[in-house]
Amino acid sequence: MTQGPIGVVGAGTMGAGIAQTIAQAGIPALMIDQSPELVERAIAGIQKRMAQRVEQGRMPQDEMDGVIANLRPITSFADFANCPAVIEAVFEDPSVKEGVLPEIEAACSENALIASNTSTIPITRLAAKLKRPDRFIGIHFFNPAPVMKLVEIIRGYLTTDETITTATGLAEALGKTPVVVKDLPGFVANRLLVPMLNEAVFLLAEGAATKEDIDTTMRLGTNHPMGPLQLADLIGLDVLLNVMEVLHQEFGDSKYRPAPLLKQLVRAGHFGRKTGQGFYDYRVS
Ligand code: 3HC
Repeated sequence: MTQGPIGVVGAGTMGAGIAQTIAQAGIPALMIDQSPELVERAIAGIQKRMAQRVEQGRMPQDEMDGVIANLRPITSFADFANCPAVIEAVFEDPSVKEGVLPEIEAACSENALIASNTSTIPITRLAAKLKRPDRFIGIHFFNPAPVMKLVEIIRGYLTTDETITTATGLAEALGKTPVVVKDLPGFVANRLLVPMLNEAVFLLAEGAATKEDIDTTMRLGTNHPMGPLQLADLIGLDVLLNVMEVLHQEFGDSKYRPAPLLKQLVRAGHFGRKTGQGFYDYRVS
């Protein structure tokens, strides 16, 4: 891939994490969202977490300064003209992504890689809105993006081998291990992981064990770093519900039905850590 800054569209949890990953790899990340305030807030969050690591002596100050200097807020897609790649990480809604991707394409150079970070939206569907679907691909990062080593590279129906090679090269340049997967609902990771998390919600609702014991079971019994209900809160219950609904709809198989308790928590606005409440309470008292 040719040199140059990488564009990141969307400064939510995933967009900010992806921008931090790029900046940590020594590459400038051009960040844009609907308003400059959203980008400022994302950068402030990254700065705060890094400052804690500096204070704890786990990161030198100059390394932090270098990363922050690589986070470059922009206010127009026109700045993507010299980017070899742009990663879209806007709200996980097909119509929102379908609206923004053609605008990104119009601002990019002819050979730029255009990628969408999505947990479930078919890449082939998003590609249908583009003039050059051959250079479009899915790059699925995991939360927290700067920490998690894997990225799924999703090949859309019209994605070329050359685009796959460029995307895997980009993932490696960002210090990630890429796996190339087919454009099937949930790809590989979410098709395996999310039904397991959903099953943990059924177990909780059935009174099989307390939430703490369900989490301890999987942490100590299967060496997962977090229990399923803790992980559900980290990922976001709204995100999980959306993945389950897509799996259920696309496969038409009742094994993917979302747990009623998961639906109820989302309806109550309890999305997990990001709203302060999910299966656990994160509000500081
Ligand atoms: N952003 C950046 N860095 C973060 C971070 C964040 N949000 N959260 C933690 N970190 C960093 C810390 O700074 C620390 O780095 P250092 O050791 O270099 O200083 C390192 O991660 C470890 O953090 P902690 O010591 O605070 O905590 P833990 O050791 O308990 O690890 C964890 C936290 C990395 C989140 C770990 O519990 C874990 O791996 N959990 C599982 C996460 C997982 O499965 N993610 C995938 C979800 S599925 C998904 O995202 C797909 C989507 O489509 C649904």
